[in-house]
Amino acid sequence: MPATKPDWKTNVRLSAGKSATVQEFTANVGGDRFEIDVAPWGEGHLKVNGREIAHVNDAKDRRHAFRELQKIADRYVEAGSTSSIKKQSSNLPAVKARLLEGKKGLIVGIANENSIAWGCAKAFRAFGADLAITYLNDKAKKFVEPLAKVLDARIVMPLDVSTPGQMEAVFERIEKEWGKLDFVVHSIAFSPKDALQGRVVDVSREGFATTMDVSCWTFIRMAHLAEPLMRKGGTLFTMTYYGSQMVVKNYNIMGVAKAALESAVRYIAAELGPKGIRVHAISPGPLATRAASGIPEFDALLDKAKAKAPARSLVSIDDVGVATAFLAHDAARLITGETLYIDGGYHIID
Ligand SMILES: NC(=O)c1ccc[n+]([C@@H]2O[C@H](COP(=O)([O-])OP(=O)(O)OC[C@H]3O[C@@H](n4cnc5c(N)ncnc54)[C@H](O)[C@@H]3O)[C@@H](O)[C@H]2O)c1
Repeated sequence: MPATKPDWKTNVRLSAGKSATVQEFTANVGGDRFEIDVAPWGEGHLKVNGREIAHVNDAKDRRHAFRELQKIADRYVEAGSTSSIKKQSSNLPAVKARLLEGKKGLIVGIANENSIAWGCAKAFRAFGADLAITYLNDKAKKFVEPLAKVLDARIVMPLDVSTPGQMEAVFERIEKEWGKLDFVVHSIAFSPKDALQGRVVDVSREGFATTMDVSCWTFIRMAHLAEPLMRKGGTLFTMTYYGSQMVVKNYNIMGVAKAALESAVRYIAAELGPKGIRVHAISPGPLATRAASGIPEFDALLDKAKAKAPARSLVSIDDVGVATAFLAHDAARLITGETLYIDGGYHIID
C-alpha cells in the first residue's frame, strides 16, 4: 500500500498570516503527529511526536524552509513502514553543517538499523554527502531498501563479495553515475561458525581462507577498484576491533584477520598517499549488532567494556559514524594510516 503523504494544516493556535513571525503547520499520519515551524529568515524545524528529527537554517525564506522540511517528512513517511525504522531515522543528526557537501561515497555493510555501516551512512548523509549503498542479497534487500530511502541513495545494489563480478559491477555503476568517488566505508566481516568459535590453533585451511577473504582481502580489492575513481584523492575506511592487538576471549580467528586488515591499511596508506588517498581502520568498542551475535558471551564483553573504559560508557553506531565522517573531511587531510579507537578509551587501560 502506498504511504500517505502528510496533509499539512496551519496550526490555528498561532496567527498564520503574512505578518506572523513563526508559522506552524501540523499533520497526522497513522498514529504520528508531524509539526513544522518556519521563520521568515529561512530557519525551521520538523518534529515527529514532539521529537525534532530535522532542522534547516540555510533556506532562502520561510516558504523554502517549509518545502525542504516537507520533503524530509514525505521521505520519513515513505520509509517508515516499521516503527523501528521510524525510531532510527529520528536519529539522523540535525543538519547544521554540510561539511561533506559534494562528496560521494560507497557504504558497504548495512544489514539493518543496528549496523555500524548504518551509523556511518547517517552521519555522512547528515553532513551532505551522496551515498551508494549495497545489500547482501534478496533477503537483506527488504531491510536495507527503506534505509537507503531515508538516505536518498541513488545507487542501491546487491553485493555479496563472494559472488564473482558483483564488486566490479558496483564500482562500474559508480563510475558511470558519478565519474568519481570520495570515500568508501568497508564494514563487513565473516567467519564460518566452526572457525570463529574454535581455537585459532585448530582452524581449518578453508575456515581460515574464508575468514581472511571476506574480512580482509575484500578491503584490499575495494581499495584497488576505488583508486582510479579517486583522481582528486579520497578516503578509504574499514572496521576493525581491539581483538587484533590483544587476545580477547572468543574473538579467535577474527582477531588474526583484523590484525592483517590493520596492516593492509598501513601498506595501502603508504602506497596511495602520494595520490591524496587516505586510509584508516576504525576500531569501535563492542556494539550489539548481528555480526556480534556470532561471538559467544558477547554480553560479558559489553559489561567489561562499560566498566573498564575511562568514559564508563558503551559506544553507539552514531558515535562511530560521526568520527568516521570527520576523517573524510579535508580538515583531516594529513591524517592517514591510522587505527582510530572509538571505544571510550578502553584500549589505553591495562
Ligand atoms: N559489533 C561490534 O562489536 C564490532 C566492533 C568492532 C568492529 N566491528 C566490525 O564492524 C564491521 C560491521 O559489523 P557490524 O557489527 O556492524 O555487524 P552487521 O552484521 O550489522 O554488519 C556486518 C555486515 O557484513 C556483511 N557481510 C557478511 N558477509 C558478506 C559478504 N560475503 N558480502 C557482502 N557483505 C557481507 C553483512 O551483510 C552485514 O551487512 C565488521 O567488520 C565487524 O567486524 C564490529
